[in-house]
Amino acid sequence: MAEEFVKDKFERPIISLRITITNRCNENCIYCHHDGMISSKDEMTPDEIYKICKIAKKLGVKKIRLSGGDPLVRKDIVEIVEKIGSLNFKDISLTTNGVLLEKYAKDLKEAGLSRVNVSLDTLNRDTYKFVTNMDYLNEAKAGILKAVEVGLYPVKINMVIMKDINEHEIKDMFNFCKDNNMVLQLIELIESENCDDDKFSAEYHYTLDKVEERLADIADDVKERKFMQGRRKYYINGGEIEVVKPMDNSKFCANCTRLRVTPDGKIKPCLLRNDNLVELISYIRNNESDEKLEEIFLKGIDKREPFNTD
Ligand code: 5AD
Repeated sequence: MAEEFVKDKFERPIISLRITITNRCNENCIYCHHDGMISSKDEMTPDEIYKICKIAKKLGVKKIRLSGGDPLVRKDIVEIVEKIGSLNFKDISLTTNGVLLEKYAKDLKEAGLSRVNVSLDTLNRDTYKFVTNMDYLNEAKAGILKAVEVGLYPVKINMVIMKDINEHEIKDMFNFCKDNNMVLQLIELIESENCDDDKFSAEYHYTLDKVEERLADIADDVKERKFMQGRRKYYINGGEIEVVKPMDNSKFCANCTRLRVTPDGKIKPCLLRNDNLVELISYIRNNESDEKLEEIFLKGIDKREPFNTD
């Protein structure tokens, strides 16, 4: 790895910046963290988001990911992508539930978006309604197919696995992905510190260890992606599956190269913690110098430490 990256105290290069541009959403998933609710008038503007990306770029960040909430509920989403697009990142991606993707896919592609990750936990309408509290399965599927059509490549499907809800659908989802040239990512359910219901994860948590063992047995090839949090990629009959296990996984942390920004403009050094955020947006709103903003970023990077070390 070249020295062009800023590294944290644990020698982890900062390659990717994940910006939560809104926490508004048109769905209401049972496992959602809902972290840091803010009203839409306090959301970061396209220019403020651009400024954050510009500083990140200067510090060596190569990839930008926009997430939410659902980023597509922002009416200015195309403008946001266009502004970031002018900074020539290696990769700009977006995580969405896909409901509004049919409408936006083409414009987003033209604005400079590289690819999308779409959250889709099930192909069954009743299960979809149970998980998202909405009845938008058809819209989400249409959005996904549109993203493939306009070349937001590769489209990745994020499937959070829940016990007795969708664990039996992995094969169907894999075939849906394979048939449409998409990558499937299986995600182990993360316990939410904001969730009032302690029983939630006990009821739905499903370990992906056994699933990984099975995938390893049937895969034609397996690759470990070091700078993608050590996650494994399985190649099966011309399709691809990745497995993402954030909890109790020291590899996830040891290989983490991501810094996050919350919807209210704070640097979030770790996905799994909310107690070490670093204020950023007020400095941008006060027109502080680039040097000062870089200093704030470095402060955020300095607070990074692995959550799981085993
Ligand atoms: N556990 C695992 N994955 C989650 N996501 C959101 N909440 C959780 C959770 N509690 C996933 C969504 C989306 C991605 C951004 O994070 O499915 O695909």
